[in-house]
Amino acid sequence: MLGLCLCLAGRVVTPHTMLGYLPHRGGSPLLCLWVLLLPLVSLQSPNRHRSPDQGVEDRPKLLLVSFDGFRWDYIYRVPTPNFRSIMEEGVKVEYVENAYITKTFPNHYSLVTGLFAESHGIVANEMYDPALNLSFSMETDSIYDSRWWDEAVPLWVSIQKAGGRSGAAMWPGSDVEIHGMFPTQYLQYNASVSFEARVRKVVEWFSAPEGEAVDFAVLYWEEPDESGHRLGPQSPLMDEVIAGIDEKLGFLLNELKKAGLYEKVNLIVTSDHGMAQLSPEKIIELDEYVDRDLYTWVDKSPVVGILPKEGKLDEVYGSLVDANPNMAAYKRENIPEHFHYRHNIRIMPILLEAKEGWTIMQNRTGHFMLGNHGYDNTIRNMQPVFVARGPAFRQNYLKTSMRSVDLYPLMCHILSIHPLPNNGSLQFIQDLLSSEPTPSTATPPHQTIAPKVSGYSYAPVIGSFIGVVMVLGFLVVYIVLVTVKQRPVLKHRSWEMSQPLLQEDLHL
Ligand SMILES: *[C@@H]1O[C@H](CO)[C@@H](O)[C@H](O)[C@H]1NC(C)=O
Ligand SMILES: *[C@@H]1O[C@H](CO)[C@@H](O)[C@H](O)[C@H]1NC(C)=O
Ligand SMILES: *[C@@H]1O[C@H](CO)[C@@H](O)[C@H](O)[C@H]1NC(C)=O
Ligand SMILES: *[C@@H]1O[C@H](CO)[C@@H](O)[C@H](O)[C@H]1NC(C)=O
Ligand SMILES: [Zn+2]
Repeated sequence: MLGLCLCLAGRVVTPHTMLGYLPHRGGSPLLCLWVLLLPLVSLQSPNRHRSPDQGVEDRPKLLLVSFDGFRWDYIYRVPTPNFRSIMEEGVKVEYVENAYITKTFPNHYSLVTGLFAESHGIVANEMYDPALNLSFSMETDSIYDSRWWDEAVPLWVSIQKAGGRSGAAMWPGSDVEIHGMFPTQYLQYNASVSFEARVRKVVEWFSAPEGEAVDFAVLYWEEPDESGHRLGPQSPLMDEVIAGIDEKLGFLLNELKKAGLYEKVNLIVTSDHGMAQLSPEKIIELDEYVDRDLYTWVDKSPVVGILPKEGKLDEVYGSLVDANPNMAAYKRENIPEHFHYRHNIRIMPILLEAKEGWTIMQNRTGHFMLGNHGYDNTIRNMQPVFVARGPAFRQNYLKTSMRSVDLYPLMCHILSIHPLPNNGSLQFIQDLLSSEPTPSTATPPHQTIAPKVSGYSYAPVIGSFIGVVMVLGFLVVYIVLVTVKQRPVLKHRSWEMSQPLLQEDLHL
């Protein structure tokens, strides 16, 4: 079909030069046909879905970066030229609904598993597992116990099981043995290692010789979370912190360019959560309502897991349920459905949730912060930034909203990995991609992936049919237009508009 078009047009044109030959310049209508048919031709290419056994050079590469606590709107506060350049060259999603609770460990694990916290098992930064009789705390080596992580399989493990390689620079959980594996390349967590040193490692891993280079890497940086907690997000001092993150991003872009990776590596820059401004006037003191000997305090404010002592559940719950208008108390089984935060024994029998800006303490003598996160994930201030660029992504495309669990199936698609059962859906965010997935990879949510299905082969047939119908329609329109001498109607936009329309039709 492609050859026929070129032949009839009488000369070989590339898609780029072709734009100059649209009707308003007096070109042949056949070139317009070609424009319309091009998306179909590309859809029919059987090589679009790559398999893990193909040549190393052709393999798609992906780097996932998290700047901890980078709230979605920070980029609008100060000039952030490096975030802007990714937005212009790629995609941006304005509102990202992350996973409840909006804390660091649960959300970083959701990003690489596509699971809500109740399903991946890292339900908080501080946890107690009654079956294991073990406690988990970010501040201890307990995080290195695989049993906490083995309820899910992070993307790096799946890639390695499929014969690929991965790299990890301090992403939460990435230096823990999970399902018997560490990332192919990784750094042991050490907060003193600079961002620049982490970037150099990641670039080195991507640049390694054929057969050793990583396909996927994750990169984590502690800021602007730390400053957000200390200063509060409303502090003018945060402006400088945010500008500093943009400079760090600029460093990363530059290192990728220097290594010749910039056009090859798909880059996603996001975060785990946002940050809310707190106030010392907004403190809820639990000691006013319930004897602290009746329960164990498990996770920290503003969403606190309460483990009542044996036989004390109803007493503790009764004391807390209507205790303070700025705090909700839920029994685990009554936690609102949309949080997807019930079905795990690591979620404590009582959950306290403060309203935005409020802090829950036992009394006022504890450590107080000016900024915090953890609140309801539908609160905008809890939501992270999201930008991405690279060969897999569209250019200069703004999307209004997504859920962070949808990122996992998207990353699996880019890397040609079959996703494990997850809570995301590629369908919701496939418009971020430069070429939309074939039906076999656009799997509906909550469904186990079967090996490639034959439905894929219908696409060319349906595509050709729609193509022919559209071409005929176009010819009629063209002839009418020429007849009434209104030639300059279609201009360049006919090219840009025809593509998404055709592709959408194909996926009905
Ligand atoms: C749980 O572990 C602690 C030690 O960390 C021990 O004192 C306690 O008896 C254990 N509880 C049960 C129910 O095994
Ligand atoms: C952590 O990194 C710093 C800076 O690179 C280094 O000086 C220190 O020895 C590292 N600590 C550990 C435990 O490796
Ligand atoms: C507040 O709690 C701490 C322990 O967390 C305790 O040492 C202190 O006495 C308490 N203060 C008051 C006023 O109850
Ligand atoms: C999330 O996905 C897991 C794995 O497929 C599934 O067990 C769980 O029920 C899902 N959760 C929701 C809320 O659909
Ligand atoms: Zn965080």
